[in-house]
Amino acid sequence: MATNQYPPIKKIAISTGGGDAPGLNAVIRAAALSAIDRGWEVYGVRDGFHGLLLPEEYPDGGFISLTRKKVSGITHLGGTILGTSNRNNPMRYPIIGMNGQIEEVDRTDEIVRGFRLHHIDALITVGGDGSLAIASVLAKKGLRLISVPKTIDNDLDKTDVTFGFDTAVSFATEALDRLHSTAASHGRVMVVEVMGRYAGWIALHSGVAGSADVILIPENPYDIHKVVAKVKERDDRGDKFTIVVVAEGATPIGGGVSVVEHEAGRAERLGGVGEKVAAEIHAISGKETRVVVLGHLLRGGSPTSFDRLTALRFGAAAVRGLEDGQAGVMVALDPPHVKYVPIEDAIGKMKMVPMNSDIVLTAIDLGITFG
Ligand code: F6P
Repeated sequence: MATNQYPPIKKIAISTGGGDAPGLNAVIRAAALSAIDRGWEVYGVRDGFHGLLLPEEYPDGGFISLTRKKVSGITHLGGTILGTSNRNNPMRYPIIGMNGQIEEVDRTDEIVRGFRLHHIDALITVGGDGSLAIASVLAKKGLRLISVPKTIDNDLDKTDVTFGFDTAVSFATEALDRLHSTAASHGRVMVVEVMGRYAGWIALHSGVAGSADVILIPENPYDIHKVVAKVKERDDRGDKFTIVVVAEGATPIGGGVSVVEHEAGRAERLGGVGEKVAAEIHAISGKETRVVVLGHLLRGGSPTSFDRLTALRFGAAAVRGLEDGQAGVMVALDPPHVKYVPIEDAIGKMKMVPMNSDIVLTAIDLGITFG
């Protein structure tokens, strides 16, 4: 337990930033109820930090009171009741400059001032690596805060898992189950593109659980000829269909990621590798090939019970941490415990799939190829 050098808390705020993930509402509920139970007032910021930076755009002022009633019955709901945003990063906030060109400015000082203006004693920020980087800057500028890690991609370092991942994997697995029967009926190759950014966790876990034949992940650049060899091997033994799971960040040997767009103030948007892989398989093998992009379906819907529980544990742990005098830390799962790690240690390094991991070895033993 940290020595508490801070004054007692009367009022806290919660913000959710970055792409949404199933379980955000469970964090909000757990944090709000734990805080209310301690006699603290709880507020939520709209759309990441936008409610603070652009209050005039919100009829409720961008800052809302989170009462017991407001957070009741939301654990099972996808999305976030506060709204979120993965645009307009306050550290690189895009504005139109004097010369009419887009310029990026740092608005983190305004955020610190905004919280002071609202008499917020401490902040809980829920987000992925982008939000953690912002939180680390805000903490250095004197904001007392604790971060809660979130992403369906499971690529955050220093936590065993992030909530949202299990829900995404469950949905992708169900999709693969469904695609098997139609692929088998038509004797087709079915290419399924899943999210995950530059890591292959969703593709790997759903591909193994959903009995894929090929899994292409960023950690192992693929050779399309090895993919086609698998299709032919299956054809030759009478299995006329093949299921290929491809992570959106997968790359061919010597090639780069497929990007949909690049916009100022935000990360590049990945997508299109599924189409590319399918076209190449068709061109080389002549097999009829179809593509399914699961995309944002992986982020929507109700969190699994595992994700709800992780999110509730994280939300409650954030409040306990604040009460104990923790600051500048991220809540993390280190089974069976929830612990606190310095935000600094968690940012800047992505958690990638180790190619010698037990799940990869299991996949290989099952006859799955990684191309
Ligand atoms: O990080 C979560 C994630 O869903 C990634 O898997 C994906 O690349 C990205 O967000 C998509 O972001 P957007 O919401 O901008 O489409």
